[in-house]
Order: sequence, then C-alpha cells, then structure tokens
Amino acid sequence: MTDLMSKIISLAKRRGFIFQSSEIYGGFSSGYDFGPLGVEMKRNLKQLWWSEMIKNHDNIVGLDAAILMNPKIWQASGHLTAGFADTLAECKECHKRFKEEEIKNNICPECGGELTKPRKFNLMMKTFVGPVEDKASATYLRAETCQGIYVNFENVLNSMRLRIPFGICQIGKAFRNEINPKNFIFRTREFEQMEMQWFCHPKETDKFFEFWKTERIKWYENLGIKKENLRAVEIPAKERAHYAKRQVDIEYHFPFGWGEIEGIHNRGDWDLSNHSKYCGKDLRYFDKETEEKYFPHIVETSAGVERSLFAFLVDSYQEVKGGRTKTTKSAKEIEILLKLDKRISPIKVVVLPLVRNKPELVKKAKEVYGLLKPYFICQYDETGSIGRRYRRADEIGVLYAVTIDFDSLKQNDLTVRNRDTMKQERIKIKELVEFLKEKIER
Ligand code: GAP
Repeated sequence: MTDLMSKIISLAKRRGFIFQSSEIYGGFSSGYDFGPLGVEMKRNLKQLWWSEMIKNHDNIVGLDAAILMNPKIWQASGHLTAGFADTLAECKECHKRFKEEEIKNNICPECGGELTKPRKFNLMMKTFVGPVEDKASATYLRAETCQGIYVNFENVLNSMRLRIPFGICQIGKAFRNEINPKNFIFRTREFEQMEMQWFCHPKETDKFFEFWKTERIKWYENLGIKKENLRAVEIPAKERAHYAKRQVDIEYHFPFGWGEIEGIHNRGDWDLSNHSKYCGKDLRYFDKETEEKYFPHIVETSAGVERSLFAFLVDSYQEVKGGRTKTTKSAKEIEILLKLDKRISPIKVVVLPLVRNKPELVKKAKEVYGLLKPYFICQYDETGSIGRRYRRADEIGVLYAVTIDFDSLKQNDLTVRNRDTMKQERIKIKELVEFLKEKIER
C-alpha cells in the first residue's frame, strides 16, 4: 500500500469518515461504514449530483426503485449469463478463488494447494424471499441500479407525460459478489451508484453521448478535482460491459494508479428490447408527431458514490511541512489540510471558546453554537490550545472557525478564520449567520 493511501485510510478512521465494517468482529467482506463525517460528505455529494441532474438540466426526473426485483429482470438484462462473471480457478485445499493473471503453475498463491480448471463465477448476489428457501423464492440483490429505471420506463413516461429525449436518475445501493475487493473503498461488494439514463432517438445517441461525457467530466472539475488527475478512457469493444456499444470510463489518478469512477455507456436498445422480449410487453415509444414507433436508445452516466468520495478525499489532501502558521518560530510537525470544496466539506463551521476554563467564554461560545446549528452542520470544540483546534479543523476541511475571546464579552463580536487563507475577521455576533450564509451558500 502506498504511503498516501495509508495516510488517507488512517485520517478517515481517526477523524470519523470511514470505518471498517463489523470491525469488532474482525471485519466483514471488505465492507466499510461511513462515520459521522463520512456520512455528511456522502450526503453532500449525492445532493450535489441530484441537483445537477434535476435542477441544472431539462427533462430529467427522479426515481427510487426497489433493490429486490423479479429475478427475470436479471435474465433479460444479461447479468445472469457469462457477461457478468469473472473467470476464476478455485483452490482445492483452501477454496479461495483466483483470477488467471494471479496464478503461476496452477498452484494456489495463498496455500500452495492444487487449483481447479478456471471457470466462470457470476457476480450477482443471490438471496431468498419468503418463508421457503427454494428455486421459486430465489432472487438477487441488484447489481446496478439502472434496471429499476428500465422496468419503470413506461410508468414514468406516462405519469409524467414526457417526450423523448428525457432522463431518469436514481441513487441507490448496488451489490456485486466481487471476487477481489481491494483498495479501501474503491472495490467493495456493497456500494452506491448515482445513475442517469437518457432515453433518446437512435439517430441522436452519438450527439448525446458526447454531451453527457463532457458534462460529467465538468462536474468533477467544478467541484475541485484537478484536471490532471482526471482522464476519459475509450474502452475497446472486447473489454466493454456486455450491454455497451460504446463505453468511456472517467478515471481518477488514485494513489494506487488510475481507476474508474464513472462509466458513460451507449447501451443502444439492449435493455428496452430485451425487457420487451422477456416480459412480453411492447416497450417501444410512439412519437405522435412523426408517427414513428421505436425502442429509444439509452445513454447512461453511472457514477460510484464511494469512488467519487474517495477521489475527492485524495484530491483535497495536502500536507504542509513545518505547519501552516509561519508567524511562530517553533518547529512544527507536518500539518494536514483537507481542502474540500465548500459544498462537499462535511463540517462547515466550528465554534471555539478561546479557553475552556472561563465559564463566561464557554457560555457565550455555546450560545453562538446554538445560533449557528439550525443553519449549518457545525461542531463545538473546547479541548486543547486554540492552535491545535485550528489544526484539527483544517484536517477535516472545516470551512470557518469562529473564536469567542475576551473582547467578545464586551463587544458582542468574535473572530472568523477562513480555512484556506487563514485570515481572521472580526464580525458582530448578530451579523454572523448572514455573513456565513453569504460565504458558504453563495
Ligand atoms: N449501470 C452501469 C454500471 O453499473 P459499471 O461501470 O459496472 O456500470 C458504474 O459501474 C460505477 O459504479 C463505476 O464507475 C464505479 O464508480 C461503481 N462501482 C462499480 N463496481 C463497484 C465496486 N465493486 N465497488 C465500488 N464501486 C463500484
């Protein structure tokens, strides 16, 4: 593991962003839990994506479909066949499975046991619904959220009186029995997707593919990801997902190398025509103006919540050798600054009494905290020196630190420290909410 990777993992745990799932039981299947800061950051990202789709574009509506669906959906989508599987060999001794590229001389890389011939292992997670565990009650946890969108295509079209082209977007959990989960939250078995399916006329697919590819790269850049850490990779036919006629992966330069954070797919009529075939219902679209009946083609943008969050964490992580404050001479250790975009930062404001052993300062600081709480996600922190508390705030990307000092008691004002410039301004307490709203929300 790279040095930067272990630093990010350690910060994520130490400061309440991400914990290993079921840690006290030794962990579980490389799963992760999002702590108090991680959950705020995740919510911010999802909200930003949702607003981008629903508010910043025309003709996109939302959906929240069930995770457990009729298993026929996964036959129609092609996920139960070879297209959605890894080729693996299994060790006859320890029963671990390995990809071909991990194996040498047909020997288990873990225990040296003999391996079976490589065969396909499907990535769908099977489960059972109802009281009887038999074939009839078997279904799957969804492997991609978009299938819930395709099977509701007609419902949404008719209830919302939409016309092609239009989009349906959804955020939700997806599950894959990944054989080789790795790289912290990059590849896990349970994750969230933010997917938008754009239904258009077949002749317009290429145009919209380019449009959405550009839009999605812009989204990451607008939220602060450095251009040089992003790239769009055209995926050759033999490596594409089974449904994709064209696929561009948006990749981020993680500490372990380039990795996909979002896929842009031209799915053609793969999904709607297959669902039509399997469910027996004609899902073609009828254009009243041109009197044309056709299967709309689909351009999909499919982003991973955890992978995006990971990319934003890495991209905003900075180490300042010798500390950020140059006014004091004392040699300081490395200080960490998480320079997250203000819209993504989990905590917007921290309230600090200058010292904690003066009850009148603490009382005033708690009043200020109470004043800010309804408007911003904020923290109250009174332990340690003021410098130390600023550093703690920088480390988790807090945008503003407000400090209540002795003058505050006389003047009803306080200092507001800007995370990025470290400049401090004196602001009247009665003007504080408006001041911060102006800085944080506009
Ligand atoms: N509906 C299309 C689809 O699911 P995908 O490329 O398989 O396409 C889309 O997945 C995104 O979902 C990926 O770019 C990634 O961000 C996220 N993703 C996929 N598998 C993942 C996993 N095992 N762990 C975390 N995120 C994953």
